[in-house]
Amino acid sequence: MPHAPASPVLRRATADDLRAITTTDGRGFGVHYSDTDIEDFRPLFDPDRYLLAQDPADGAKQDGPILGVTGSFPFEVTLPGGATLPAPGVTWVTVAVTHRRRGILRALMTEQHRGFVADGSAVSLLTASEGAIYGRFGYGITTQHRAVEITRRRATFRPGAPDPGGVREIDGNEARLLFPDIHRRWTALVPGALSRSEAWWDNHMLDRESRRGGGTALFHLVHADGYASYRIEHGERTCRVVELVSVTAEAHAALWRVLLALDLVETVAVWSHPLDDPLGYLLADPRQVRTTRLRDGMWARVLDVPAALSARRYRTEVDVVLDVHDPFLDLGGRFRLRGGPDGAECERVAAGGPSVAMDIAGLGPLLFGGERAATLARGGLLESDDPAALRGVDAAFLADRLPQHGTEF
Ligand SMILES: CC(C)(COP(=O)(O)OP(=O)(O)OC[C@H]1O[C@@H](n2cnc3c(N)ncnc32)[C@H](O)[C@@H]1OP(=O)(O)O)[C@@H](O)C(=O)NCCC(=O)NCCS
Repeated sequence: MPHAPASPVLRRATADDLRAITTTDGRGFGVHYSDTDIEDFRPLFDPDRYLLAQDPADGAKQDGPILGVTGSFPFEVTLPGGATLPAPGVTWVTVAVTHRRRGILRALMTEQHRGFVADGSAVSLLTASEGAIYGRFGYGITTQHRAVEITRRRATFRPGAPDPGGVREIDGNEARLLFPDIHRRWTALVPGALSRSEAWWDNHMLDRESRRGGGTALFHLVHADGYASYRIEHGERTCRVVELVSVTAEAHAALWRVLLALDLVETVAVWSHPLDDPLGYLLADPRQVRTTRLRDGMWARVLDVPAALSARRYRTEVDVVLDVHDPFLDLGGRFRLRGGPDGAECERVAAGGPSVAMDIAGLGPLLFGGERAATLARGGLLESDDPAALRGVDAAFLADRLPQHGTEF
């Protein structure tokens, strides 16, 4: 095994690095990317947003081996109350298997996050391959995925459940035209929801055979305020819902009426069903929406406490000093937050006020309203000598609906 550099040389990627990045990343994740995969990804690849680690012995030569990669996508993310923040979504994080646990990831993350701060980002986001990696960098779990399976024949609608109709079957071309606007309206409602660029939509709708897992090409359903895409696995007699987006309760009920009417299907499976989805309440037997897996989805890290906290709305009036501990980027301190349903302000203060002390990794989950302050306190990420201050933060940070990010990255 080669010796690791004492500290790696970091450089920004160029367009020519894409193939080498996919090779390093493919090794890290155990994937062989095909030429088609690489060309499909190219429109989403902004080399300026990628940092590469190399051995100083190679003098950061363009063609020297890449020992580590980190990149980011430029998302907009929705906060409780509907405001959005530009938010880099960290991605393609890999270190060569020959050079692990020698500080290359830490060097990449430090440089990348300094860049996010210099660019004025208030929050950064990621999805994690393993749960133990990112807490140390100030990230906390912000959304969760629930996989569900429904035995279609047993999932009858309760008497009186809405049956609004209005769903059409459409092809991929029409879906590409109609879905982005519905998705945009959905992102405005849901905390944690991520924007999709046109290039992202093109990629999302590609539906390459190599990614179908043995299922059919996608079928698409559309309603004025929602849509669903699914594929059928004939061997398993399963309908796999790849995406279901509804802006209104009517669209939700109408789309589910159609999905549960697919006569030749035994099981309808959804890989990411919102934790607060109301489908169970439409059915005679709510237990038919069986959760088969629950796992973390998106993680968030606050980079600018005043900017992030003043951009969201709060469920109840709150006036509190948050004492934030940030060992990774040293961006913590004491911040006074005054907020409520109509707006908020937050500023750095020297001292005073009823205070709640917390690790920065607890602030992302709180910011998007997906975790209760009381739960974080029981987990030791947040504490206060003042029970009223803790109760106030607990009540104020809850959002009207649970956060969902909606777009994998
Ligand atoms: C995860 C990965 C990027 C770590 O790279 P690395 O260069 O070995 O990490 P570092 O040596 O810089 O470690 C930084 C810190 O994270 C810890 N760490 C790194 N990987 C970890 C893991 N898988 N589980 C727990 N802790 C981990 C290290 O112990 C170190 O802790 P410390 O600095 O607080 O003492 C690398 O193992 C990898 O490429 N894995 C496969 C691909 C992958 O999962 N990528 C992440 C995608 S979300």
